[in-house]
Amino acid sequence: MPILYHELSRQFHLYNDEVSYIIGVLENGQMENLYYGARIRDRESFAHLHKESYVPMGAYACPEPSTLSLQHTRQEYPSFGTGDFRYPAYEVLQKNGSIVMEPKLVSHAIFAGKKKLEPLPATYVEKDTEADSLELTLEDALTGLRIVLSYTIYNALPVITRSVRFENGGKEKLVLKKAMSVNVDLPDGDFEMLHLTGAWSRERFVRMRPLDEGVQGIYSMCGCSSAEHNPFLALKRPDATEAAGEVYGFSFVYSGNFVGQVEVSTHDAARVMMGIHPHLFSWPLEPGEGFQTPEAVMVYSASGMNHMSQVYHELYRTRLCRGVWRDRVRPVLLNNWEATLMDFDEEKILRIAEKGRDVGVELFVLDDGWFGARNDDHAGLGDWVVNTKKLPDGITGLAKKVEAMGLKFGLWIEPEMVNKDSDLYRAHPDWIFSAPGRFDCPSRNQHVLDFSRPEVVDYIHGMISKVIREASISYIKWDMNRYITACYSAAADAEHQGTIMHRYILGVYDLYTRLTTEFPDILFESCASGGARFDPGMLYFAPQAWTSDDTDANERMRIQYGSSFVYPISSTGAHVSAVPNQQTVRTTPIQTRANVAFFGAFGYELDLNELSEEELAQVREQIVYFKEHRETIQMGTYWRLRSPFEGNQNETAWMTVSPDKREAVVFYGQTLNHPNLGGLRLRLCGLDPAAEYEVVCGEEKSVHFGDELMNVGLILDRFEFYRRGGDFASFLYTLKAI
Ligand code: DGJ
Repeated sequence: MPILYHELSRQFHLYNDEVSYIIGVLENGQMENLYYGARIRDRESFAHLHKESYVPMGAYACPEPSTLSLQHTRQEYPSFGTGDFRYPAYEVLQKNGSIVMEPKLVSHAIFAGKKKLEPLPATYVEKDTEADSLELTLEDALTGLRIVLSYTIYNALPVITRSVRFENGGKEKLVLKKAMSVNVDLPDGDFEMLHLTGAWSRERFVRMRPLDEGVQGIYSMCGCSSAEHNPFLALKRPDATEAAGEVYGFSFVYSGNFVGQVEVSTHDAARVMMGIHPHLFSWPLEPGEGFQTPEAVMVYSASGMNHMSQVYHELYRTRLCRGVWRDRVRPVLLNNWEATLMDFDEEKILRIAEKGRDVGVELFVLDDGWFGARNDDHAGLGDWVVNTKKLPDGITGLAKKVEAMGLKFGLWIEPEMVNKDSDLYRAHPDWIFSAPGRFDCPSRNQHVLDFSRPEVVDYIHGMISKVIREASISYIKWDMNRYITACYSAAADAEHQGTIMHRYILGVYDLYTRLTTEFPDILFESCASGGARFDPGMLYFAPQAWTSDDTDANERMRIQYGSSFVYPISSTGAHVSAVPNQQTVRTTPIQTRANVAFFGAFGYELDLNELSEEELAQVREQIVYFKEHRETIQMGTYWRLRSPFEGNQNETAWMTVSPDKREAVVFYGQTLNHPNLGGLRLRLCGLDPAAEYEVVCGEEKSVHFGDELMNVGLILDRFEFYRRGGDFASFLYTLKAI
């Protein structure tokens, strides 16, 4: 059992082969973090790790002679108002207006396995032997509030998950104003903070900065996790690299507003917290009521950032994603969006699908524009009834025809939205978020349906499930194309407006739960104007996400590289599109477009009828190649080799290795071509040092031992780039053990 309780010292030690996490009880009954890091030997007491002495100007949490100053103590779940002047992890407003709390440990429970958090998404176990859990119950005597801190440690991965439950066990109403899912007080601030930022079409670019005194953080107040900041941050030691050194990852299993921040105190301690953003959050708790925070997932790596990412990949691919598609390689798909936008009819669609079938595509996806009066983005959202002017035989008829070609059929939906020009809005104008008497800020000419209201979710569920039930549909792309403004619900009283943003996300999760339960064989892909809701919460329902609307291969190297810090390759939707690219007006070689897109849930998003015979032949070969290697690419171990965000920022390289290390695929791409450069050695990772690999790159073949490839590296001839197209050229190496 990797959770020990030492009764005499009242300390808890969560550990496995890689990590130790030690919690103690402070003199005032609150919890203290004694250690978080690489595995250390257990002992009866770690009391010596608690340091306390008189501090000038300290405010003390216990009567004299105590010197317990919370400002100088590493706490598990700090509150405000009792001597710690840093940001607290939670805040509870009491009837008398006070926010001061004195919760004390009253009981604990240790058990095998992991409880479900439903309706919230969360990581899970298949067998109780995979993980152990600890619950610490703290109680504030004056109000009767109970705070249950939950921890799960996985046996085989350096993962600790965290969440918190608040229960009003008192007699008076309380209001929860802030409720972080995780807080970790680290003893020093000697770290760099890595996070993933961006905007539409350049999501999840890697940023790194040294920590400094004060608060540094990321957040979303957009109503979804957002393109601006992904709900993830890592603290790495300044000398940590991809291959070595200490890294702490924090990832949030949630799709709505969030905050992740690191506060470095002027005594050089670093406080990390992550949870629902307190702005716009206020949750009344009547006596007997409770609130469960979403889950945060901490990964500790003593061997660099690649290891941290590999742990997230494995956990999220196998113990967050669910359903029949979890362990299956993903079909090669063809989506019509960039080919036609909303301007199509059945004949055009079938011509595109047919060409896809001819070159080896497995799934055709009909994107936006098939319903209501949806000919551009001014109308139709909310009216989930097929437009028979475009598709005379309906979705049912079209799906049949596509299936008759030998393809599977997929469909786009955007259930959370409505255009004012729609029958739905005309019937229910109060179903959108809109503040009374205020302008309601359209975005892409659409408005957000108030999914905090069960009747709205019921209605949309009725319409969409009908379409899915009546046609043979194998895949759904669930889009969400705007941020939330005027987050005011016509159905809630003033006191409950602060619950709306979270209840909206619960409504989204509810609809996902209903549809994925009703249609368990369908492959769901989430999407939000590209990658604006690419988060672990979504992966619980949809095992893949559309990574970005930017399909330019050069931009995608960066976007997919950044996404790889947390998200498995199988979850990363990646398509080959036409050139010049719609977003960048850039022309890149079709082979590079495919080489980049191979490292994801691979597909095409263009009208294949417009390609030359030569290009079509390439596409055929690409699909054959991908089908042969997708198991290694999507289910293998992924390694970042060269960052487009560091060094000359001109080169990107990564690779995946099959679990048995018999096969590997290496990608190396450049942005601009530079003349007369020196040679390049690309050191590979994760191979079997003793295995002999045949290395194939285009027509060239050579044989090398794994140790040579990992220590000497692949020797690349940069002059080769000329032959391969210069700017934006790329190489793909396939390794097979012989
Ligand atoms: C945004 C998505 O990211 C695109 O792929 C496409 O589905 C459009 N929405 C359709 O409106």
